[in-house]
Amino acid sequence: MEVGIAYDLKSDFLLPPGSPEDALEEYDSEATVHGIARALIANGFAPRPLGGRRSFIEKLLADPPDLVFNIAEGFGSRSREAHVPGVCEMLGVPFTHSDPLALAVSLDKAACKRLVSACGVSTPSFAVVERPSDIAGISLRFPAIAKPAFEGSSIGIRRSSRISDAAALEAKIGSLLRDYRQPILVEEFCPGPEFTVGILGNGEGVRVIGVMEISPRTGSFEEFVYSIEAKRNYLTEVEYKVPPDRPRDMLEKVEAAALRAYRALGCRDIARVDLRVGADGEPKFLEINPLPGLNPVTSDIVILASRCGLTYEALIGNIVAEARARYGI
Ligand SMILES: Nc1ncnc2c1ncn2[C@@H]1O[C@H](COP(=O)(O)OP(=O)(O)O)[C@@H](O)[C@H]1O
Ligand SMILES: [Mg+2]
Repeated sequence: MEVGIAYDLKSDFLLPPGSPEDALEEYDSEATVHGIARALIANGFAPRPLGGRRSFIEKLLADPPDLVFNIAEGFGSRSREAHVPGVCEMLGVPFTHSDPLALAVSLDKAACKRLVSACGVSTPSFAVVERPSDIAGISLRFPAIAKPAFEGSSIGIRRSSRISDAAALEAKIGSLLRDYRQPILVEEFCPGPEFTVGILGNGEGVRVIGVMEISPRTGSFEEFVYSIEAKRNYLTEVEYKVPPDRPRDMLEKVEAAALRAYRALGCRDIARVDLRVGADGEPKFLEINPLPGLNPVTSDIVILASRCGLTYEALIGNIVAEARARYGI
């Protein structure tokens, strides 16, 4: 079975002048594509690189593979992660991971929070700021956090993103609006422990791979932000705990909230859900990643899976198996 890999590499893009230095952080490295290709071979499939954007469309039209393994982040809009799966749907080519709707809504963090909270998942109180004059209408408690509404990989999220007062909030929002040119999500800051939950499967077969606590190696977790600095320096700054040393009922609530969000969004095959415990002691949904990073060494879901006994090859094999079962191929 031939499995085409759809991806967008950091090296495919030129950083437009004036862009923040983390603008390309979400895009993949060649090591990730090679890792996936090797894992596909180990599972008995024949991988073929398809790339993204125009190259992807041309290759799909000329000679479609049996299945597309999709890690393409897309380009240019809040719907960008829906581009590759949208093309696959149009051309009737089976593909792994979620459908265009789930991918697009998950990338818009505010739209996603509205959707999951309507389905009973608790999420931090928030406001969306499109222009500086919106700030006056915000009535959230401090500390707060401000982040670009349509990004991932902690793009625009720094240690300094935890904000204690109105003056700092105004300054932060001003710089985020200027640098990232998109709405800014302001949320109440959850001071409790942070968890990420790996989920695999579809329908009755949806299952939690495991729960991983993400905590700082130094300093208190109350003020910790899993910022771009922390993600880049994860070996020295971050400790990953699997299973977390937390009360059983807290971990059960974390898993239940993550599963509820996965189902509410209609995610498929795999996703990773980020949650944090709020000041009230209850887990809150921060965001969902239906295209979780799949770098064979550094990605959270890969670290989590390996600590749960699921090798990288098995993780990739599971994603493909879930997709094949959906299509009956
Ligand atoms: N409301 C919040 N309360 C506490 N920490 C938060 C909150 N929102 C984000 N963070 C911190 O910022 C990190 C990145 O935010 P997240 O929403 O997961 O964005 P990304 O898509 O970039 O991963 C989180 O892992 C967490 O450490
Ligand atoms: Mg996150």
